Amino acid sequence: MKWGQLSALLGMKSMKQHIPLIGEFELTGRCNLGCKMCYMSHKIDDSKVLYKEPSAKEWIELAREARDMGMLFILLTGGEVFARSDFREIYTEISMMGLTTTIYSNGTLITPQIASWLGSRPPSQIEITLYGASQESYEKICGNGDGFHRALRGIDLLLDQGVNLQIRTTVVKDNIHEFEKMKEIAGIRGIKLGVVNYVSPRRDHLGKNYDEMRLSPKELVDLEEIHSAAQAHQVNLSEPLSEDSLNIHKELLEIGFQEDDPFPCSCGKNTFWVTWDGRMVPCSIMNKPEAYPFEEGFLSAWESLIRQCSQIPKCKECSACDLKEYCMTCPARLMNETGSYEVPASYLCQCAKERKEREGKNYENLHKTNN
Ligand SMILES: C[S@@+](CC[C@H](N)C(=O)[O-])C[C@H]1O[C@@H](n2cnc3c(N)ncnc32)[C@H](O)[C@@H]1O
Ligand code: SF4
Ligand code: SF4
Ligand code: SF4
Repeated sequence: MKWGQLSALLGMKSMKQHIPLIGEFELTGRCNLGCKMCYMSHKIDDSKVLYKEPSAKEWIELAREARDMGMLFILLTGGEVFARSDFREIYTEISMMGLTTTIYSNGTLITPQIASWLGSRPPSQIEITLYGASQESYEKICGNGDGFHRALRGIDLLLDQGVNLQIRTTVVKDNIHEFEKMKEIAGIRGIKLGVVNYVSPRRDHLGKNYDEMRLSPKELVDLEEIHSAAQAHQVNLSEPLSEDSLNIHKELLEIGFQEDDPFPCSCGKNTFWVTWDGRMVPCSIMNKPEAYPFEEGFLSAWESLIRQCSQIPKCKECSACDLKEYCMTCPARLMNETGSYEVPASYLCQCAKERKEREGKNYENLHKTNN
């Protein structure tokens, strides 16, 4: 059995049995950049935030407890993990736990010393986010123009060390004009560019106007079309799905998601997120429901999170909506957009409508060409 099939099987079984297979640890709330759309970060020298962050020993112990309960995949993220002076200690211990480890970073704090250290004990993957293809965009988006050159330097230092690296970008109004250039930056290094297209309002609801910075529904769907066309060229059609993987996918669909499950993802089933201030939540952009693993222990927090997730109501209007197959509605997005799990979000509705209209137009065009 190949690794992809095995991990799908593990995902399926763990969702069914509520095993915490995937843990996401937000090691810090602080960052050296200040991206204006960031859903959570604080200034790097914010002492109130620093004071609330669990210590290296606490994170390591929590990872051990989670591993003993079934966690196999761990994400280390922030804020910016390399802004923590004790990141080496945390990573070194976690890297010896037999987990599949991913790191998210903005890449700007990677020095030759850090790259060489990480290269000697590489994670399964590091994902670096690019915020543009110029100093100007970094200045506008992250408040730090120098970040652009530093991010590129970080990427190249890590690649030189043979670290498995992916580049992604979060697309907003101020960098969409550089999308092709960002693809080139990734392409000349032999890497695909991953894309975060949906930009969520802050999970702590600090009341910024996200519509000023994020893509309009039309821009977002344009980007999806360009990106999915590019991705389609990279699908390996010479390798048909094996019988095993077809069975796994079939079973996945069968256990799939209960009728009343509001989550279209693994939240509330086999995945948890721990925030920089030590709370367990379902995913990166959810502030609630919460449980307290550092106070009550991992298992009790996990059970509490599962219980609370099962009580989240499914939006009735979304369930009955004709556009739902075109929509990225989910409890996290509804809550951050509208303040309620049960109120449709106009940004999501407009995106779904735009996708449906495009599909109609694409169909008409295809029809015209075929005739
Ligand atoms: C919060 S950052 C933490 C890791 C690291 N500092 C970085 O920038 O990659 C994790 C990812 O979330 C993305 N992100 C930031 N704000 C977002 C938002 N409001 N909605 C969706 N994704 C966002 C970032 O671009 C990045 O890819
Ligand atoms: S680099 Fe990452 S954590 Fe820092 S402000 Fe930007 S998105 Fe947020
Ligand atoms: S958010 Fe709007 S478009 Fe999406 S499923 Fe709900 S009602 Fe339908
Ligand atoms: S944003 Fe929505 S779909 Fe994504 S992980 Fe969170 S709850 Fe699931």
